Amino acid sequence: MNTFIYSTTRASAVAVGLVLATAVLGLTGATNAEAGTVSKLAFGKTPDGKTVDLYVLKNGRLTVKVMTYGAIITSIETPDRDGELDDVVLGFDDLNGYLGTHPYFGATVGRVANRIAKGKFTLNGKEYTLAANNGPNALHGGLKGFDKVVWKAEELESGDGPSVRMSYVSPDGEEGYPGNLTVSVLFTVTADDKLEIKYTAETDKATPVNLSNHSYFNLGGKHGDSIRGHQVTLYASNYTPVDDALIPTGEIAPVAETTFDLRKPSQLGFLISLLDNTPQGFDHNFVLDKPKGRMGLAARVFDPKSGREMTVSTTEPGVQFYTGNFLDGTNKGKAGVAYKQHQALCLETQHFPDSINQPNFPSTVLEPGQKYTQTTVFAFSVK
Ligand code: BGC
Repeated sequence: MNTFIYSTTRASAVAVGLVLATAVLGLTGATNAEAGTVSKLAFGKTPDGKTVDLYVLKNGRLTVKVMTYGAIITSIETPDRDGELDDVVLGFDDLNGYLGTHPYFGATVGRVANRIAKGKFTLNGKEYTLAANNGPNALHGGLKGFDKVVWKAEELESGDGPSVRMSYVSPDGEEGYPGNLTVSVLFTVTADDKLEIKYTAETDKATPVNLSNHSYFNLGGKHGDSIRGHQVTLYASNYTPVDDALIPTGEIAPVAETTFDLRKPSQLGFLISLLDNTPQGFDHNFVLDKPKGRMGLAARVFDPKSGREMTVSTTEPGVQFYTGNFLDGTNKGKAGVAYKQHQALCLETQHFPDSINQPNFPSTVLEPGQKYTQTTVFAFSVK
């Protein structure tokens, strides 16, 4: 059972303060924060006794829950076209589920999202060997990535709405990566039903960094069946083909006249049936068309059954589009539902997989004195 240990008083007090400030100083932009609330629940303890808290961010018609273990999004609740609220992300009802084996449900992934071939790279003349956790390759940060550590949390009013900032210092050498890396992830829910995620990172030695969120979406809700009926648009004219181990070949290939052309809304079931990979489905990085380094649209997902629509915008150059191909019923998640193949889809906004070994991909190297930033916004509506 969760215990309620923090109320919304602070958020209300801030809102009153903002209203007064607006009246006295003629400030604008305070309205979003007024409606939102943030609350904190105890969510349990890790096996080594660390307390885990769950933050509930509520604004507009959107409620997002994010916990300090793995900076994991445990729930995103949003209405369908009849106003019925439901949770549109896969996960578990309690901390125990998340402490077990699962494929990164809702997690903040890093230090480097996706695969690094053979778990090796060379930087400034030095070869580094990472923890291999996907055959010979390193995946999503290694054996104990950012998804399996307890983050520090701080409640904030970001101006856009109620927020929680998670922070973590990844020590030099962790999972084989060089440099002490200070990371923060700011989660905000806005009055117009958007979840904003803003990442920052700084290092004291050159290191690759590629942060992302690994939420599994099913806009049909927690009992939603497969995502084969969802319509997906990806704003990408190119993608990065992969070998059998899902490592990019280095090529940047046009999607035109291939099954990877999702530039118009496309029903996933039909497209997936055309793919000949095993396990079948999309598990590919798409190269976004938006201007480099600037915020722009990555994807749009529509579920004709529930009427829910989600758009994804990002500052990142790519999005890993993954249709839950490896889900095989082993994980029993929320409400005891066994998560089957194509039960959900992920849109992991990020730099391209294995960038550190691919000279023609945008660089993931962060140098001391530089600041890594990335912003991704998930916007929810109905049609
Ligand atoms: C990868 C998949 C992997 C999944 C869960 C995705 O980002 O592209 O290959 O199975 O994460 O780890």
